[in-house]
Amino acid sequence: MKNLILFASGSGSNVENIYNYFSDNKDINILFVLTNNRNAKVIDRCNRLGINCLFFNKTAFKDDHSLLLLLKKINPDFIVLAGFLWKIPTTWIESFPNKIVNIHPALLPKYGGKGMYGMHVHEAVLANKEKETGITIHFVNENYDEGAIIFQQNVAVEAADTAESIAQKVHQLEYTHFPKIIEQLTCKAAQ
Ligand code: GRF
Repeated sequence: MKNLILFASGSGSNVENIYNYFSDNKDINILFVLTNNRNAKVIDRCNRLGINCLFFNKTAFKDDHSLLLLLKKINPDFIVLAGFLWKIPTTWIESFPNKIVNIHPALLPKYGGKGMYGMHVHEAVLANKEKETGITIHFVNENYDEGAIIFQQNVAVEAADTAESIAQKVHQLEYTHFPKIIEQLTCKAAQ
């Protein structure tokens, strides 16, 4: 049995999709979801789905290291960032090398880095008249959105697209690919 821990800061639609994808899988288990946002919609989703969702604050995250200690104790096979907005401390990356995975709603290295999240990404893509955008799934390193790329998928930006319609297209790509890539990584790690 492989164990995953998911992190989310906002809506959590990827969390819900990943949970649904693995619900019949006896080899991959979602232990719980962690959030840094008391008002995140992901908390309601988890309550509805029956997934444990735990809140943590900045102190536990990076000052007293209590969250890292907890993670080390649990020793999950993968930590999945599904819309998580804080920068992962270096100590975490050292403790879980190539075990922390993030999804970014653009084709990195374009439209990555600090401040490039959510609608900011899609608005920038639109403003620059890009012909395509997409998703990037990557390992997390000490810099925002710069870890080794695992998977990318593109989608066309049409003349009629708005930032909202681009967000929808990108979310669809995320729903299709993110759980599959997590599954592949987890299977590889099992070999
Ligand atoms: C996704 O677009 C993901 O790429 C980014 O944050 C967003 C999270 O969306 N990292 P949701 O909360 O899963 O709906």
